[in-house]
Amino acid sequence: MIQLKLDGCERFVPPSAFKASLGKALEAYDVLDSETGPGNDFLGWKTLPDGIPASLLQEYESVRDDWYGLGVNLVIVIGIGGSYLGARCALDALNHQFLLPEGRPRIVFAGNNLSEDYLAEMMDLADRSNVACIVISKSGTTTEPAVAFRIVKEHIESRYGKEGAATRIVAVTDAVKGALKTLSNQEGYRTFVVPDNVGGRFSVLTPVGLLPICVAGYDICSMIKGAAAAKKAVTVRSEDNPAVRYAAMRNLMYSDLGKRVELLVTFNPRLTCFAEWWKQLFGESEGKDGKGIYPASATFTTDLHSLGQFIQDGERCMFETTIKVEKASRSVVIGSDPQDLDQLNYLAGRNVEHCNSMAALGTKLAHIDGGVPQIEICVEKIDEYTLGELFCFFEFACGISAYQLGVNPFNQPGVEAYKKNMFALLRKPGYEEATKAILSRIQN
Ligand code: PA5
Repeated sequence: MIQLKLDGCERFVPPSAFKASLGKALEAYDVLDSETGPGNDFLGWKTLPDGIPASLLQEYESVRDDWYGLGVNLVIVIGIGGSYLGARCALDALNHQFLLPEGRPRIVFAGNNLSEDYLAEMMDLADRSNVACIVISKSGTTTEPAVAFRIVKEHIESRYGKEGAATRIVAVTDAVKGALKTLSNQEGYRTFVVPDNVGGRFSVLTPVGLLPICVAGYDICSMIKGAAAAKKAVTVRSEDNPAVRYAAMRNLMYSDLGKRVELLVTFNPRLTCFAEWWKQLFGESEGKDGKGIYPASATFTTDLHSLGQFIQDGERCMFETTIKVEKASRSVVIGSDPQDLDQLNYLAGRNVEHCNSMAALGTKLAHIDGGVPQIEICVEKIDEYTLGELFCFFEFACGISAYQLGVNPFNQPGVEAYKKNMFALLRKPGYEEATKAILSRIQN
């Protein structure tokens, strides 16, 4: 089970202040639990993963089996924000970091940017592959995935025909509304539903995350079990609840110590993208009304050689939350060298992970000395089960933390501003007034 360690904060916060913050976090827990806070029509994620019917998991497996049967070796997953980060980070954590999968398809992600080079190069890969596509958009109208899907759909139709496309394209979208739903009905695509009351960044345990993870060949039942185990721990009204304690400590860092940045640290590159998921979860949930901790991330020891100087010595604006993985999945032992010119024989016989954990401990102590409080979240290893635990832990912690901060965790009004300008600049029908206004602004 996930363990939260706060000893690295003790030098910075008196027990009485933490106790007071815990009281506030418990009040926030009550708001989330009683579903009386702002945004409470977006709490469907709280029912997960218990409410996932076995028949739904079988449907994911049937997509996987059909595509494996067709010899599909490339699945393009189209989506942005909450509609891709969960699956992306899970696959980055689980996949071999260098070898391409054998006997199961490679998964690539599109529609999460508007780079022409990215799309063109991905289509180079598609040209050489046996392709299927999962297109994910809750609203069904988001520009980035819509643009990518138009291109991928055309590619699939031109190679496999309309009928072939209907077996190779699956849509994950709203149950009834949106352009993607309408198109899916018209073209006969299989569809899965993003529940109305689950926002994108809380949707990893819906088809949004679970379908691509299943199609990639991973054990989603184990992920669900991990999430269920974590849910037991984070849905207890107690000062020992790790999600309550994490929320209490990070809010205390913000309110009493003026820490404006939380750096999510991992010492395992498999979790680099997990931090991207976490950044969206906390950034979109808390960054509003002029408030919020800026969620940043780093992968150590790599970034100790780029950001380490700033963290140790620069503006004292941050605290760190380290996801500590207790066990490596593989073993690489450092050998002995008769000449010892590199003077590493003192490490001979040691596993590389031993060095990694000493680096982690050394970093923790150095950063405490440098005025950077340390929160640790420990998991035994990286697998489907622990990823499920982490997803569930952070979702509940985020809901509690945002309510403690005093914001609605479940809206994202700030995301619209760039879209309005982009549509005006692209001269989207209906944006004529905005186009005039923006043109006069940029011409002056
Ligand atoms: O968390 C969110 O709500 C957002 O990041 C959305 O997931 C993202 O904007 C994509 O939206 P949609 O799934 O409607 O295309």
